[in-house]
Amino acid sequence: MTEPKHKQRLFELVFGHLAAQTVSTAVRLRLADTLGDTEQSGAALAAALGTNPAATTQFCRALAAHGILTQTAAGHFRLTETGALLRTDRTDSLDSFARVFTDPAIVGAWRELDTAVRTGKGVFDQVFGKSFFEYVAGDENLSTAFPAALQQSATQTAQTLPFHYDFAAYGTVADIGGGRGTVLAAILAAHPGVRGVLFDNAGAVAEAGANFAAAGVADRCTVTAGDIGGEVPAGADLYLLKNVLHYADDDRAVAVLDTIRRAIPAHGRLLIVDPALPETVDGSIPDTMYLSDLHMRVLGGGQGRTRAEFENLCTRAGFTVSTVSLLPAPVAFSLIEAVPGAGDS
Ligand SMILES: C[S@@+](CC[C@H](N)C(=O)[O-])C[C@H]1O[C@@H](n2cnc3c(N)ncnc32)[C@H](O)[C@@H]1O
Repeated sequence: MTEPKHKQRLFELVFGHLAAQTVSTAVRLRLADTLGDTEQSGAALAAALGTNPAATTQFCRALAAHGILTQTAAGHFRLTETGALLRTDRTDSLDSFARVFTDPAIVGAWRELDTAVRTGKGVFDQVFGKSFFEYVAGDENLSTAFPAALQQSATQTAQTLPFHYDFAAYGTVADIGGGRGTVLAAILAAHPGVRGVLFDNAGAVAEAGANFAAAGVADRCTVTAGDIGGEVPAGADLYLLKNVLHYADDDRAVAVLDTIRRAIPAHGRLLIVDPALPETVDGSIPDTMYLSDLHMRVLGGGQGRTRAEFENLCTRAGFTVSTVSLLPAPVAFSLIEAVPGAGDS
């Protein structure tokens, strides 16, 4: 006889998208900002949100059962620590992250997961007629929420990465696909002898000046707008590629590495910072990382990679992996350092 916990686990998985939709609705109603530090009855919340009182109480009960709210003895609701992460007045708010992953476009692409699994190709462009990044640029909601969610993740990494790699050993660090420069600014701030080069598309780098000024590193940084498919700035001592290869299938990832290979001097180093997958599913990383990995397949045929898979990509592009290390939790990225040239040369 199957133990009840096994059935319950399956129920939780099958109901997972209902739970996500419940959180999504809390975000879109701005429930967390409305509650703030207060506790309120379902009826009072309904009055504040302009919603139906009975349905709002029912909705809050479901959120309480799932750890977003807690129900007090008086039957009122307040935010839990988890729910409070949806408040937009916090620097560590996950509001944008929740908006992105529950956005109708993302949900629409995930409906075609079976096609992605059958073909191995990303499905976002088939569903929406353009790449995910092109779609984001033209979408009213995602054009705000996606950069904000990336910024959130970059801010978290920026607190850790500068202190877990010897950036001070390099004169110039070029951050390729470096977005708004959050991580590069933190590296330069932590290592005053290092100069920086930020490379990304024009839309992303347009936002970078404020980050560099705020970190007090603007005089040590140059910014170049362009397409990784073309050329990247030549001659830097270290090329940083963070959270870029994850979005790409193997051929596109090798093309990105090829572009850097053409620009890097013989003494240069490449540092790939990407989610790290262990060789087997051994419980050493959160199970959500495997969904985020699958998400990359859905968006554009991308994937997380094991050490062996990174070594293979690097070899194809004329690099040799020299060291691999891990950033400490909760960041869960690996640092893959590679040198130009074949291993035996
Ligand atoms: C997931 S974001 C990572 C940003 C940053 N490295 C970080 O970790 O916060 C991927 C970045 O690659 C940039 N990117 C993607 N394709 C590109 C291309 N063909 N040329 C230039 N930049 C590109 C995007 O604009 C975006 O900033």
